[in-house]
Amino acid sequence: MTQVWYTVTDWLNRRRALDGRGIGFVPTMGALHRGHASLVERCRAENEIVVASIFVNPSQFNDPKDLERYPCTLENDLRLLESLGADEVIVPTAPELYPNGYCFRVEPAGDAPVMEAAFRPGFLQGVMTVVLKLLGMVRPDRAYFGEKDYQQLRVVTDMAREFFLPTEIVPCPTVREESGLAESSRNRLLSPEGKEKAAWLFRALTTAANPDQARSILQAQGFVVEYVEERWGRRLAAACLEGVRLIDNVPAAETERW
Ligand code: PAJ
Repeated sequence: MTQVWYTVTDWLNRRRALDGRGIGFVPTMGALHRGHASLVERCRAENEIVVASIFVNPSQFNDPKDLERYPCTLENDLRLLESLGADEVIVPTAPELYPNGYCFRVEPAGDAPVMEAAFRPGFLQGVMTVVLKLLGMVRPDRAYFGEKDYQQLRVVTDMAREFFLPTEIVPCPTVREESGLAESSRNRLLSPEGKEKAAWLFRALTTAANPDQARSILQAQGFVVEYVEERWGRRLAAACLEGVRLIDNVPAAETERW
């Protein structure tokens, strides 16, 4: 039976009772799909206790409209988590998680902002800060993150190492629809035609000879392209379709096979 915690105080009381148990953690923003489910399944297989969180984190949205229309499907999410064998689900409100406002922030120092950081100012800071808070609340042995959000996965992995957090960050492969489209909560904001077209993001990343060609393919399909770049052995892109921002990435080596 899954237990759901709506306040930080109640959760922290529960957490004390779990001291000494092996804990795995899957943080999410809800609107759960097969991609999230794969993280929870992996977490279930590798840990004694499975904890998930659902929190649409305002501080990582640079566009208020994006936050406003972010899908919310709490009842379905809780049913899915129950069916996947999650033990504990934390569903805090923003005032619960930020009782003193946004008073401390974690952000990457140094390098010029690239990709998500360049196109979504405040995004990495918002993610790092909320993930640090959630890891502090849950104190898991392992936390599961998807490769779909590759820059996020990297920054969280680096933060955990630099702050000597006692949590192993476990990367999980991207779950895709048959068309190749990466599962995403935002896909449900697309029209049926838009969803078909959206598969071009994966197609362009895997078939183009280089990032410029991928950009041209996407533009020809009606995407507004933010970036296509190769970094960290991956080819990564962000592009908007029907006003919905989609991101994806593939191993750069995979692009050579096509
Ligand atoms: P959210 O977009 O809900 O994603 C939660 C986790 O699911 C992330 O680790 C994400 O990379 C992973 N995920 C999403 N789509 C996936 C797919 N198709 N295949 C595999 N994994 C996938 O990412 C966030 O929430 C937030 O930024 C969060 C980390 C919760 C902090 O607020």
